[in-house]
Amino acid sequence: MHDTQIGPERVAADLGLDASYGSWLAELDCLGGPEPGTVLPAPREAAATLRELGCPPEAIADAVGTLPDPRTDPARWWLLERCRTRLVRTLGDPDAARGTWPKLPSRLGPAGGAFYLHLVLATMPATRAYHASRHVPEQVSWATLADLGRHVAIERATTGATGVDEPWWLTLHLRGILYEIGRLQYAVFRLGRGPEHPSPWYDDGEAALLGPGFRTGDDALGVHIPGGTPLTPESCAASYAEARRILDECFPSATRRVATCSSWLLDDQLEEYLAPGSNILEFQRRFTLVPGAGDGDRGVLTFVFRTVDTPLDELPHETRLQRAVVAHLRSGRHFRWRTGWMDLPRG
Ligand SMILES: CC(C)(COP(=O)(O)OP(=O)(O)OC[C@H]1O[C@@H](n2cnc3c(N)ncnc32)[C@H](O)[C@@H]1OP(=O)(O)O)[C@@H](O)C(=O)NCCC(=O)NCCS
Repeated sequence: MHDTQIGPERVAADLGLDASYGSWLAELDCLGGPEPGTVLPAPREAAATLRELGCPPEAIADAVGTLPDPRTDPARWWLLERCRTRLVRTLGDPDAARGTWPKLPSRLGPAGGAFYLHLVLATMPATRAYHASRHVPEQVSWATLADLGRHVAIERATTGATGVDEPWWLTLHLRGILYEIGRLQYAVFRLGRGPEHPSPWYDDGEAALLGPGFRTGDDALGVHIPGGTPLTPESCAASYAEARRILDECFPSATRRVATCSSWLLDDQLEEYLAPGSNILEFQRRFTLVPGAGDGDRGVLTFVFRTVDTPLDELPHETRLQRAVVAHLRSGRHFRWRTGWMDLPRG
């Protein structure tokens, strides 16, 4: 027991966490003590694993150079043990609340920035064991966890520092909810339950009319689209077929019929701007849109420019989509966050 004398107040004081971290610390404190088994690999092994997960060399150096030790870094260890606890207690449970996953203050430098890389290292053995228990293929297991490298690279590109752009996102991978299969990622979830349920979605009456596969509690897959390489129709088709095959084996279900997607990529206004053969428009064609929409401006700005508060005049206009986004917003119009669904291909 390394942390008998340490609690949320001491953690906040040691790390200089202000009141905005209070609810996070309270959530972690409420866990009632950590699950046993928080172990970090030795530096050489940690570096090899982070390399395997696609992390850039500077981030690996930062993470390895700041691996916390329970005796000398009790505050960071307290956070690490409890964050890992929250993940391993909800392994494989898509209905569990997401919880809060804030970045640590940049003032802490690499030790704070690398916190979520340390959390991945500490949690991965449990995640890998869960994958193995579900017979998730090795290649899928590693490809899934290697999303870490992508998100560390995004953070470096946008802030120049080591970290992860959206820490909560990686909790889905670590909890065994999300799988990367070929070009796309899939969340295994149940309609109408938990935070993976898409929004907008049909009300109960509409869902009942659509029949089995659409009802509350029916299993479904949530499609997610990592950036980085073109979203070709061929790569998507291969991914859908492979996902159906693999996930039906690992997570058998009598009720799973549809894959859903909620994204700015499904905004049908993009048709006004993109060329007919564009990958985004081809992607849209596979989905039936659900009525209703959320505000998509923030999503578009994030995924096209990686900034939400830069004046429109200062945004790059290198690609057709970048020019379209600026023109659309400048004319006073808005983007929409849409949900679509598609029948999963039969195996
Ligand atoms: C999904 C994604 C790979 C599609 O890119 P793509 O395969 O190039 O798509 P298209 O063929 O339809 O692109 C049409 C045009 O828009 C541009 N474009 C597409 N996505 C872009 C993006 N995110 N940022 C800037 N430009 C983009 C393309 O470069 C192309 O422009 P060009 O004709 O001047 O060359 C890309 O948007 C991306 O990486 N997005 C980030 C991840 C994401 O948004 N996920 C969904 C989260 S809800």
